[in-house]
Amino acid sequence: MRHARHIVLVGPMGAGKSHLGRLLALRMERPFVDVDAAIEAAAGCTINALFDSEGEAGFRRREARVLGDLLAAAPAVIATGGGAVLAEANRAAMRAAGTVVYLAVQPAVQLARLSGDDTRPLLRDADAGARLAVLQASREPLYREVADLVFDTSSLSPEAAADALAARLATREDLPA
Ligand code: S3P
Repeated sequence: MRHARHIVLVGPMGAGKSHLGRLLALRMERPFVDVDAAIEAAAGCTINALFDSEGEAGFRRREARVLGDLLAAAPAVIATGGGAVLAEANRAAMRAAGTVVYLAVQPAVQLARLSGDDTRPLLRDADAGARLAVLQASREPLYREVADLVFDTSSLSPEAAADALAARLATREDLPA
């Protein structure tokens, strides 16, 4: 059966992993799970609060744990956080358990989507455009390394992106099933 395994969405903040992921899961008739939301539910507080109380290192430990749990569960569409690819063990686990899709986004579109957002600790007290560029420079090779396919969401509505990505996943014979 095609895609009996997870569909794992990676990519930067503002790429549309959560929104598109939810729509993609509906089209693929499988559950949608969001790693950040699961971290918040388990911790009983927001990611901002976790960064404040445990630092980024504490958040990354929780992220690895939650990701591992979700990858071990029934096949789903899994939206990861933008930094989940930083740990080599996370990347290996994603590749072993699913088809990994890098959702890419052009910087201007990304910045517009994130404007006014105050839920991302890495963008607090920073020039968001400059911070996003620095993050992308260091992470883009990791997104590309882990991904089975790259899908640019910049010029598409979430609905159109979900339609196109579902079609692409259904027809690609070279993807791991
Ligand atoms: C982060 C991205 C966020 C969240 C946390 C850290 C990152 O997820 O995991 O704020 O390191 O890029 P989104 O990519 O869903 O915004």
